[in-house]
Amino acid sequence: MAENELYIGLISGTSVDGVDSVLVNFQQDTPELIASHSHPIGDPLRENILALCVGEDIRLSEFGQTHIELGKIFAEAANAVLNKAGVESNAVTAIGSHGQTVWHEPNAGNPFSLQLADANTIAQRTGITTVADMRGRDISAGGQGAPLAPLLHQHIFASSSENRAIINIGGISNVTCLRQGAKPIAFDAGPGNVLMDFWINKHQQKKYDEGGGWASSGTVHNELLQLCRNEPYFSKALPKSSGRELFNGSWLENKLAQCQGAIQPQDVQATMLQLTVDTIVDALDPHCQSLFICGGGAHNRALMQGLAQARPNCTVASTLTLGVDPDWVEAIAFAWIARETCAGRKIDTSGFTGTSAAVMLGGIYRA
Ligand SMILES: Nc1ncnc2c1ncn2[C@@H]1O[C@H](COP(=O)(O)OP(=O)(O)O)[C@@H](O)[C@H]1O
Ligand SMILES: [Mg+2]
Repeated sequence: MAENELYIGLISGTSVDGVDSVLVNFQQDTPELIASHSHPIGDPLRENILALCVGEDIRLSEFGQTHIELGKIFAEAANAVLNKAGVESNAVTAIGSHGQTVWHEPNAGNPFSLQLADANTIAQRTGITTVADMRGRDISAGGQGAPLAPLLHQHIFASSSENRAIINIGGISNVTCLRQGAKPIAFDAGPGNVLMDFWINKHQQKKYDEGGGWASSGTVHNELLQLCRNEPYFSKALPKSSGRELFNGSWLENKLAQCQGAIQPQDVQATMLQLTVDTIVDALDPHCQSLFICGGGAHNRALMQGLAQARPNCTVASTLTLGVDPDWVEAIAFAWIARETCAGRKIDTSGFTGTSAAVMLGGIYRA
């Protein structure tokens, strides 16, 4: 029997709700999740990150220090998952660190996607070889740099008996269409939780709307929904990817300002939930038979119900049904990319990010 193939995956997503850290064994076809850990990102670091994400001015000194501070936190997250599993660092082949996106501009004259969390610091503080900056390499090969989690989706969730969609509902949502006999397609559909999180935080100082309960107490406001759906991003051709640079609190406030009359806060919440549902459903392949949800949105019951109502002929479930906990799919994806990169294998991201040829994802920082 082959040796264990242990990798760690690390990511802090658009929601900035903590660093997801997983220890995975890739010895079998389906990755075995050995341990998982969510590492907190405290204030004021979180506030700094959120300010960066909407383009606020920052001194280079503060920027550099945020990069290193995040590197330390990512290293702690890796060490914590090892601790939980009772596994020594020298048993792990590599860490795949996504880092924290603070700016994503894949369509700029000089396109880039910037993730913070210094990989030197991670390698140094864990003693484990670290693969990082996956998005940057994809962009240098003509891709959007995102979404990348679909690489794992196609690898472990594709079925020979049904057409599936894997939908990752984080701050931003991305949809992976796995249609039998066709090339997988994936892209960012639009806002996942980011606008709902913004709105409930503004009105109730909560980080998110537990189970979508507040949204369920409101009524969808059709004028606001239509204004939001008119956003050019939704009708943009593929490949496409997005982030907080576009979908943020100001984006929503701007749409609200265009509406006639006042809208009850819970109705705005209901409308943002419906926007997430509608833009996901619009992104689906019409032949899709089953939707499997991952990311924090899988815990939003009202959102799950909204998707089931919008696609009554589809099965709607979380990826747990396929054997993978929805909270850890994305971190597992970055562990998997690290494995491919360490093995010297290029990955074909063309159907997702729009690269023209297979690409080696990420730089390697040796232990
Ligand atoms: N119990 C829950 N009820 C409603 N929403 C939830 C729940 N748990 C998590 N979420 C949502 O999921 C988000 C985090 O999802 P995650 O997949 O980590 O996103 P990201 O990749 O952007 O960090 C939270 O900000 C919240 O909006
Ligand atoms: Mg998260």
